[in-house]
Amino acid sequence: MPKHSRRKDSFSILLLEGIHNSAVELLHKRGYSNVESLTKALDEAALIEKIAGVDMIGIRSRTQLTETVLKAAKRLFSIGCFCIGTNQVNLGAARRAGIPVFNAPFSNTRSVAELVVAEIVMLLRGLHERSAAVHRGQWPKSAKDSYEMRGKVLGIIGYGHIGTQLSVLAEAMGMEVRFFDIVRKLALGNARPCGTLEELLQVSDVVTLHVPDTQATRGMMGAVQLNQMKPGAYLINASRGTVVDIEALAQALRGRHLRGAAIDVFPREPASNDEVFESPLRGMDNVILTPHIGGSTLEAQENIGVEVADKLIEYSDNGSTIGAVNFPQVALPTREQNPGTRFLHLHRNVPGVLRQINEVFASRNLNISAEYLQTDPEVGYVVVDVDGSVDDRQVQVELGQIDGTLRVRFLY
Ligand code: NAI
Repeated sequence: MPKHSRRKDSFSILLLEGIHNSAVELLHKRGYSNVESLTKALDEAALIEKIAGVDMIGIRSRTQLTETVLKAAKRLFSIGCFCIGTNQVNLGAARRAGIPVFNAPFSNTRSVAELVVAEIVMLLRGLHERSAAVHRGQWPKSAKDSYEMRGKVLGIIGYGHIGTQLSVLAEAMGMEVRFFDIVRKLALGNARPCGTLEELLQVSDVVTLHVPDTQATRGMMGAVQLNQMKPGAYLINASRGTVVDIEALAQALRGRHLRGAAIDVFPREPASNDEVFESPLRGMDNVILTPHIGGSTLEAQENIGVEVADKLIEYSDNGSTIGAVNFPQVALPTREQNPGTRFLHLHRNVPGVLRQINEVFASRNLNISAEYLQTDPEVGYVVVDVDGSVDDRQVQVELGQIDGTLRVRFLY
């Protein structure tokens, strides 16, 4: 196991908001024994007090890592968001402080795909409407508006991680899959791409959205697009609330152009479980409404724990910043592939830093076996592998004196 310029059990790790125990287990297994795990988020004052002595922090969506909080985080060297979103962190302030932020964008892919499969069955059979009616004492036993999914066309908008996973599941259940993506994608199984969004809307019995929130996707399903869908078709959105114009959707459902919809994400969502949910879709029996739970399963939580803890460990043990959302991405060979000593230097992106780094090594006759550099307009990250086991604090001190240095450490 590689050694650090600091003992691993001296790293203080704070996990907040009930992060799955899979994270703690992995950190322990990899030698990080000093982990404190709290079930709650901390408010700003408590966080400022606590974070001063913390080296790595793990949060979910409720903890706000503001610039003020980060200023107090003198020792902090990485942040793990054990969720998808990272807007609860001031990413720019973290970058300027030399702190990479990691998240778990793909741990709940399967959970979303499974939810959508269930919703396709529910919509095509009117299950939610019938169940509600039977609860009220009615008995709507009929085949009216009930269909098998076999042979129906599923139109997937956004053929990424979730879209492709869904494609495989839907085909296994007999659906014909068409998809539309702005990037050329490898079609899985018998799925076929559509040249335009309009084409997809016109041929699909069920349309499902799996795109990110970007300028191009905001409002991409408005009145015009909903109108282009087949009469009697269904719409599913478990991607981002901004993608569908909800007023236009409510209109299309009221006018019976669409037979039903399943919506998991909304333009405005309650900030907590105690707040009232408002939407023009409320009260419409032919709409399945869920509270943004597409990715919320215990399996996903467990996967997220492992995925983010693994990224924090990789960065700490190896220096790799792959997957960091606010930082130059540096992929590095493992310490086993490249033994010797690895120096990691984070600095503000000012001219002359690389030359000065190289001088420190040249002046000692140390043989550089590999050097990696990535910069963005604000920060630079240089990783230098040198031959042999150089447990030399003086190198670290000299590297630390270079103008613009944010942080230096080494692995040997
Ligand atoms: P991904 O990044 O793997 O795939 C997104 C795909 O959309 C990419 O193939 C991309 O090329 C495509 N795309 C981007 N802009 C497009 C456009 N204008 N038109 C057509 N295609 C476009 O993302 P992933 O992991 O599949 O997630 C998809 C969405 O699901 C994201 O918005 C994510 O935030 C959301 N999500 C929702 C969850 C929930 O709880 N409901 C849980 C997890 C993810």
